[in-house]
Order: sequence, then structure tokens, then C-alpha cells
Amino acid sequence: MNASHKQHAKNTSRDRPSRPGAQDPRDGAADCSIPHAIESVDVRIERMAMHHIDAVMAIDAQGFVDPWPAETWRHEVRDDDRLHLVAVAADEPARLESRGAHSPTTRERVVGHAGLLFLAGMAHVSNVAVDSDYQQRGIATRLLIALIDRARERGCAAATLEARAANKRAQRLYSRLGFQPLGINRGYYTKPPEDALVMSIRHLDEPEVAERINRVRAALP
Ligand SMILES: CC(C)(COP(=O)(O)OP(=O)(O)OC[C@H]1O[C@@H](n2cnc3c(N)ncnc32)[C@H](O)[C@@H]1OP(=O)(O)O)[C@@H](O)C(=O)NCCC(=O)NCCS
Repeated sequence: MNASHKQHAKNTSRDRPSRPGAQDPRDGAADCSIPHAIESVDVRIERMAMHHIDAVMAIDAQGFVDPWPAETWRHEVRDDDRLHLVAVAADEPARLESRGAHSPTTRERVVGHAGLLFLAGMAHVSNVAVDSDYQQRGIATRLLIALIDRARERGCAAATLEARAANKRAQRLYSRLGFQPLGINRGYYTKPPEDALVMSIRHLDEPEVAERINRVRAALP
């Protein structure tokens, strides 16, 4: 990675502990399966638009120490070299009076987001986060599968990302999808200081990549 790419990636790659103080007994494992569903949630994956920015910033404010400012998000939405997706879920049903009867209606809310930067024929995962109330339900998996699908359609040769060395939950998520460790980027993160594990899917066009993604997709609730 050259200096300008590194600087760019520093400004676009995100990470934070998934739940502050949470201990995960499976840290270190890189399982490819998805356990029995605890609770599934229907989400619709769509391209992020300007009207999603507040909701996405609210998700990031839950834990990122250096969340992107609104202007960065506007750039993320506008830039043709970036693709950012949101997961939209039906919120708690609300009932409204209509013609003397109670009609069920739903409000929708953004519960997760993930993005790609397309750079020199490669796809770089810039950001992924899920609302803490909606984690562990396959939402990040769905978002990343959608991004990998788009990267493959766009003819990208490979996909890369960085994850905090201690963020084992995120690393398991990426491993399940076929990302493999490529190396350590020392001192990559500054707030707080931490090394990054660089991961990649090196040949996105190989049939094994699609087969793996399809297996993970099929196991989702
Ligand atoms: C990392 C993060 C994005 C994962 O989001 P998520 O939506 O919880 O991820 P998924 O649900 O797709 O997968 C995570 C786990 O849920 C499990 N899971 C998926 N669907 C499930 C279901 N229906 N029932 C039970 N478990 C399920 C997966 O097996 C996986 O288990 P593991 O964490 O023990 O390995 C989320 O924790 C987060 O926002 N963290 C803070 C930001 C962050 O760290 N971003 C990554 C930067 S590198």
C-alpha cells in the first residue's frame, strides 16, 4: 500500500470494539458456520442516500471514537468510486386509527451500514457497523455479501480491509466470508493506538468465492 493509499485508508477504514467491555469466549476462532438463529430480523438492503445520513451517524455514535462527520458522509453518498449500503428494518409496528378500525403500519429504521471504496480495480471495505440492538442477527453478513456481489459484478480483482487486531468478532465475520489474513499494519489505528490486521479475498472471480458466499447466504435466517 503506497503512502497516499495508506492515508486514504486511514481516513476511511473504521473500527471499534463491538461492545465495550464485552468478553467473547470464542475470540480467536474463525468458524465458517452460522449458529442457530436466536432471533431473525427482516431487512432490506439498499444504496445509502442523503436521507440516511443521520441514522447512519447515530449508529456510528454508539461506539466509534472518531465517527465520520456529515460532510464525509455526503461525499460517501455522492462519489461514484464509493458504494455504501444500508440495512433497513421494519421498526415496532404502530397502529393508527383509520376509518374507525386499527390498521397496522410499520415505521422503518436503518439498523446497519457497510461501504466499499473502488480503487485501482480493487474493492476496499471502508466501514461496517450494525446498531447494537440488532447485532448477531446476520445483518453485517448480509451487507458484506451484497458488497462482495457488487464488487464481483464490477470486475474487481480482489477485496481488502483492515480490522483492529483485537476485534475478533469482526475478523470472524470476515473470515466466514472468505477474507484471509494478509499481514499486520503496525500502528495503523491511532484512536486508540492499535495494529491493523489486513485481510483480503485475493481472487474475487474464482468460483470458490461465489460458492462460499452462497453457502453463507443459504445459512442466513
Ligand atoms: C462487527 C459487527 C459489524 C458485526 O455485525 P453483526 O450484524 O452482529 O454481524 P452478523 O450478525 O452478521 O455476524 C456476527 C455474529 O452473529 C452470528 N449470527 C448471524 N446470524 C445469526 C442468527 N440469526 N442468530 C444468531 N447468531 C447469528 C454469526 O455467526 C456471528 O457470530 P460470532 O460473532 O460469534 O462470530 C458489529 O458487531 C458492529 O457493528 N461492531 C462495531 C463496529 C465494528 O467493529 N465494525 C467492524 C470494523 S472492522
